[in-house]
Amino acid sequence: MGVLIKGGTIVTADRTWKADVLCADGIIKQIGENLEKPSGAEVIDAGGQYVMPGGIDPHTHMELPFMGTVASEDFFSGTTAGAAGGTTMIIDFVIPSPKTSLISAYHQWREWAQKAATDYSFHVAVTWWDESVRKDMGTLVEKHGVNSFKHFMAYKGAIMCDDEVLVNSFTRARELGAIATVHAENGELVAHLQNQIFAQGITGPEGHPLSRPPGVEGEAAERAIRIADVLNVPLYIVHNSAIQSLNAIARARADGQRVYGEVLAGHLLINDSVYRNPDFDFAAAHVMSPPFRDEEHQKALWKGLQCGTLQTTATDHCCFCAPQKAAGKDDFRKIPNGTGGIEDRMGVLWHHGVNSGKLTMNEFVAVTSANAAKIFNIYPQKGSISVGADADIVVWDPQKTRTISAKTHHQKVDFNIFEGMEVKGANTVTLSQGKIVYKDGEVRTVRGAGRYINRPPFAGYYDALKTKSAVEKPTAVKRGGKKAAA
Ligand code: URP
Ligand code: ZN
Ligand code: ZN
Repeated sequence: MGVLIKGGTIVTADRTWKADVLCADGIIKQIGENLEKPSGAEVIDAGGQYVMPGGIDPHTHMELPFMGTVASEDFFSGTTAGAAGGTTMIIDFVIPSPKTSLISAYHQWREWAQKAATDYSFHVAVTWWDESVRKDMGTLVEKHGVNSFKHFMAYKGAIMCDDEVLVNSFTRARELGAIATVHAENGELVAHLQNQIFAQGITGPEGHPLSRPPGVEGEAAERAIRIADVLNVPLYIVHNSAIQSLNAIARARADGQRVYGEVLAGHLLINDSVYRNPDFDFAAAHVMSPPFRDEEHQKALWKGLQCGTLQTTATDHCCFCAPQKAAGKDDFRKIPNGTGGIEDRMGVLWHHGVNSGKLTMNEFVAVTSANAAKIFNIYPQKGSISVGADADIVVWDPQKTRTISAKTHHQKVDFNIFEGMEVKGANTVTLSQGKIVYKDGEVRTVRGAGRYINRPPFAGYYDALKTKSAVEKPTAVKRGGKKAAA
């Protein structure tokens, strides 16, 4: 049994070379020239094609309960759509409501994710603070393979963290050898601007970007970076959309701080004119936070990805259909925030990144899988083509063209933010755990075949903790004794 991928060119984040790849028992067993076909193995002819690690989308929200509704894409349909487009692993988010247990929420999400077709893992959000949260974070790291904690600095009155929560949670993450992650928008400012704009009579989706200007994002990114710096915890900032947050990350990294930045395919390719479209359904379908920005920001994001200020690409796949978006028909503040994209991330990044010369093929692999695997500590099990790695692979035809459309996509949502976009370069085959889950237009995913992937804490941080605290131990100044002469 097994699958032999023959005659292709392997592309990883490090190098490009011609070799066959033999997959069996869920992993890559052998890489080499002219490999023999074991009896019973299926052969994939990869002549003229590239063989790359399957995509890792480090930011998705399948069946998320949010803003009074539930995201339409579930773990099976979402991972299936991912597989159809060459993504073989997601890192989704457990988001406990404030005052509820992190552990209970974690088990709830694990239950929902049982139906996933490809592998998955979870960041866990910290939305409030007390001693039980501190304890639960420890249990999640030590027993449940969680090494990243998410903090929403926006969504006031719902899941927003204030600075007290950030400080407590970042401190705890540091103790545990975990990484802190943030959605960086100043939620106080957003709420203030939303109310002001609504009071001015702007009730439609065009109010959404007006209430979330780039400075709102820059302030939060800068604040999270400063807090992380003082507490000496690594920080990952999700869905950067603005020059302001990009510059904050660049400055921190230049200063030696361990800060990582993610960018969404949507923010790279869609601009803010969508919110001014007279068709409510069209404009509302693009409502997500942070909002799509103008070309100046888009250009800067591409440059950030090219120069390494941003390391990962994601989608923030969080789908709501038109009837759900209609909840905000008369009030943009009530439009459920979120857009899809898991199926198209690899294709649009190849087309607009590699075909345009902005990214090399190796850089494409770095930003679509390898870097996420490294940052979240699952490399080289994921994000690599190496013996012993999970056989999550795409066979990629650089000549294949397709036109993206909601009419043909596999995503469970009635809209596609990349509608009508023609892309050149696409997967002809996707393998998950060594099994073909997509081939030449045929989807072969199996409900429940995905596994939960443990992500261990970062050993270096544990080691450091044995000898020093996160903030260097201060020494008290000795006072008292003889009074100094006047
Ligand atoms: O608008 C968005 N991004 N919805 C999903 C939740 C989040 O903020 O990531
Ligand atoms: Zn977010
Ligand atoms: Zn998100």
